Amino acid sequence: MVSMTAKKKPKWVHKDLLGLEYLSTEDIELLLDTAGSFREILDRTIKKVPALRGKTVVNLFYEPSTRTRVSFEIAAKRLSADVINIATETSSVKKGETLNDTGRNIEALKADIIVVRHDCSGAASMLARHVDISVVNAGDGWHEHPTQGLLDIFTLKKKLGRIDGLNVVIVGDIAHSRVARSNIWGLVKLGAKLTVCAPEILIPPGIEKMGVRVTNDIEEAISSADAVNVLRMQFERDEKAVFPQQLEYFKRFGITGERLKKAKKDIIVMHPGPINRGVEMSSGVADGANSVILEQVTNGIAVRMAVLFWLSQARRK
Ligand code: CP
Repeated sequence: MVSMTAKKKPKWVHKDLLGLEYLSTEDIELLLDTAGSFREILDRTIKKVPALRGKTVVNLFYEPSTRTRVSFEIAAKRLSADVINIATETSSVKKGETLNDTGRNIEALKADIIVVRHDCSGAASMLARHVDISVVNAGDGWHEHPTQGLLDIFTLKKKLGRIDGLNVVIVGDIAHSRVARSNIWGLVKLGAKLTVCAPEILIPPGIEKMGVRVTNDIEEAISSADAVNVLRMQFERDEKAVFPQQLEYFKRFGITGERLKKAKKDIIVMHPGPINRGVEMSSGVADGANSVILEQVTNGIAVRMAVLFWLSQARRK
């Protein structure tokens, strides 16, 4: 269980988790430390604690998801919460009900936390302003995916023991990636040295102001990196237009065994999933010794347990 007798007195003041941009370094460290305590529970025979007994978590996903939705459901169940999954395809969303009305009805049904994924940037923030219960952003458009950022950072810290001073490369569609944004906000706050690598057209103007270095040369980028986080090409959006030949992207930016030979031997390879094998990375790399992709997925449960735990604490104040 989470120890409240730690050296520093944890303080969590947020009703919602909307993005890592809005958290302090201390908030992020508190979530990572708490996730560390919860991670151990996942390896027990009885993987359950009573921290959220009597609470109800509603997963409201307007976009497809495997990892995030299932991970939030497992996280809530490991904390003994009741969980409801709303499939928007078979809900009153199909009759035209707005996000705010749906959220207010979920609140009237006495839920405690809404986990929302939406294709519009800012959707989670808007919902949070319209309900008194907690809202967790499970990915909103191109804006943020804060629990993905947290689980990536948690995985890096678990593997390498620190974040401060690490060289981390994020490669792929920086412009349209909520995962990139959450990683950048979080990692920069914790002192990592970040490089983003992408074709010119997929680098948003002014990204350097977030505290990152920009390059288009993947081999140069990974040559001194401790970790490379490989983003998914979002072909369900508009990237066919940018890269009609997927092979072309793979040739210039794909992470392959040959490329890893020129990087540090122990470089960590991450991917938020789902992977486009043979586009962002080779299958050999995805399943290889440097890959921590499935560890990220497992760690995501612990991180989401920490988020649900602290939001439920804030609600009680
Ligand atoms: N990483 C991630 O958000 O995956 P899903 O879309 O499957 O939730």
